Amino acid sequence: VTKPIRFEDGSLRILDQTLLPHREAWIAIESAERMAEAIVSLRVRGAPAIGIAAALAIAVEAARPGTLASRRERVARAAALLRASRPTAVNLMWACDRMTACAAGGAASPETEAGAWAAALRAEALRIWEEDLAASAAMARHGASLFPDATRLLTHCNTGGLATGGGGTALGVVVELHRRRSEEGRPFHVWATETRPLLQGARLTAWELRNAGVEARLVSDGAAAHTIRRRGIEGVLVGADRVARNGDGANKIGTYALALAARAAGIPFVVVAPRSTLDPSCATGEEIVVEERNPLEVTAFAGVRTAPEGFAAENPAFDVTPADLVTALVTDGGVFRPPADAFTGVDTRS
Ligand code: MRU
Repeated sequence: VTKPIRFEDGSLRILDQTLLPHREAWIAIESAERMAEAIVSLRVRGAPAIGIAAALAIAVEAARPGTLASRRERVARAAALLRASRPTAVNLMWACDRMTACAAGGAASPETEAGAWAAALRAEALRIWEEDLAASAAMARHGASLFPDATRLLTHCNTGGLATGGGGTALGVVVELHRRRSEEGRPFHVWATETRPLLQGARLTAWELRNAGVEARLVSDGAAAHTIRRRGIEGVLVGADRVARNGDGANKIGTYALALAARAAGIPFVVVAPRSTLDPSCATGEEIVVEERNPLEVTAFAGVRTAPEGFAAENPAFDVTPADLVTALVTDGGVFRPPADAFTGVDTRS
């Protein structure tokens, strides 16, 4: 299990994912400002992971000395700052809202001690983390049940332990299938897309697959449709950053193209996401804000300019896959087809 966050004796650290796979460096996070910077610059990334990271940063702010009133103010500021650090993954807003609700409740009476109030916030952040680990385990089980025979799968971006509290969404299912096929004595192959422009697939998924002992290959994003056809891929598994009420889902840029390729090839396209990624306030994918990142991530590679000086670029970090291209949505609550049924909680697995 790769946990991207450590919280020991009140001290919070994150594994700096911008340095992987070359260096495993843990950085101390003493404030919400520092965590917001880490989220913006993708030192910690992945929808569930940034929610957990923000919740823990709020708990750290709550624990700093001060009167209850001053702590409350600090926590409100921290939650607002963290909430605004990235726009697409709803887990971030969901976790900040949970922490804000916890800060408002419980300690309503003036005599409540600041220390007890901070302890309640710390417990809530740890609960968010534990719940995510349990959700990952449930998704791995539900998702694996969809592929009783598959031995060749393709995945995009990084959706493993690094992107969550330590379990995984789509990659958790992939690793579980690897475990099942190994037990059955059958081969199992995974193709991972490199995931331009920031290479979460090449840097992070490849690192996690190697650590898990999964036989896997990297392909460039542009090679994915070809690979699906020529390598006999049996299913595409991806995560999500936000799922709208109608089942449309935002995920890493390139996901929509994979869904189209999967549909054209007649293979399942499966989205794996915990219920904390479902956004009941969002009617369709049209309403999902897609993060636009610095164009320099596209016009340069590893700090070296590749496009002509001053050339314009667009850099959407996510895209929205329409629900009708999604074969099934796997959540910790079960498997949903059509994916919109996840909101009513009725497991429609056949
Ligand atoms: O920009 P990132 O690296 O945070 O994007 C991550 C993804 O798009 C994942 O697929 C997503 O968060 C869902 S899996 C945990």
